[in-house]
Amino acid sequence: MLTKGIILAGGTGTRLYPITSIISKQLLPIYDKPMIYYPIATLMLSGISNILIISTPQDIPQFKKLLGDGSKWGINFDYVIQKEPKGIAEAFIYGADFIGENQVCLILGDNLFYGKLDFLRNAISANRGATIFAYKVNNPQDYGVVTLAEDGSILSIEEKPLNPSSQFAIPGVYIFDSSVVEKARHLKPSARGELEITDIQKLYLDEKKLDVVIMGRGIAWLDTGTPESLIEAGTFIHAIEKRQGRKIACLEEIAFERGLISFEQLYQNYNSLPRCEYKNYLLRLINEIEKK
Ligand code: TTP
Repeated sequence: MLTKGIILAGGTGTRLYPITSIISKQLLPIYDKPMIYYPIATLMLSGISNILIISTPQDIPQFKKLLGDGSKWGINFDYVIQKEPKGIAEAFIYGADFIGENQVCLILGDNLFYGKLDFLRNAISANRGATIFAYKVNNPQDYGVVTLAEDGSILSIEEKPLNPSSQFAIPGVYIFDSSVVEKARHLKPSARGELEITDIQKLYLDEKKLDVVIMGRGIAWLDTGTPESLIEAGTFIHAIEKRQGRKIACLEEIAFERGLISFEQLYQNYNSLPRCEYKNYLLRLINEIEKK
């Protein structure tokens, strides 16, 4: 059994209008690269190499143009069109053939994780049904919220509750076994007309097959759905990259480190870029590797 990855990169992006009236949110820049590079990097760093990108009929051609089949990073991209944004859980219906008998890690295209990602790798290998994460935030009412008992077991899961009973939001990265497809197919739309990811989680909870892992504050979880959170994420990435002199979510670097591409492929990627700062960074990597 493999673990496959799905990036859900459709939606309407209404909170970012008028910017997103003609461009996908997930193609907007987070400082020096398109937003979708970050969830791709998260999946690659978790050991995943088969990734399905789900987006709107207008935007899929753009994603294909940007990312291709993934071979330049030693991974494989598949693409599927979501006709209308009818909810996060629809990803599993559109992704049914792609998932097959495998488990799947779903990540929302506008979620950015930074820090030591061992928690994700470990959760992927330990998953026995579904695994969600819990992250303390100031505004849990904007997310799915999980409430835990003192022994760490799950008391409740609620979608955007008006009066949250805990500060634990559920970040947009989840792991499910292949039964998620059938579960999604039987789901009824919620009052807002969407197939809710929290309703899927509740089904696993009823089967006693839902685990929750607390994502500590050493991990930065940012979502980028509003003008303010978009610029905050960009500023965050800029500050760390400037201080360390290393890029976050440089897909060539991750691919080479993971042994997914050869030195020749790295050089070819470098060569295919016009003069830009990203190209300079790849040259630095190439020089470092040659010195080793
Ligand atoms: P949201 O941020 O909830 O929705 P949105 O991106 O349409 O933005 P807004 O609320 O401002 O209108 O979606 C979270 C992520 O999931 C985002 O990356 C878009 C994606 N998504 C889909 O691809 N299909 C869907 O049906 C939904 C609901 C979301």
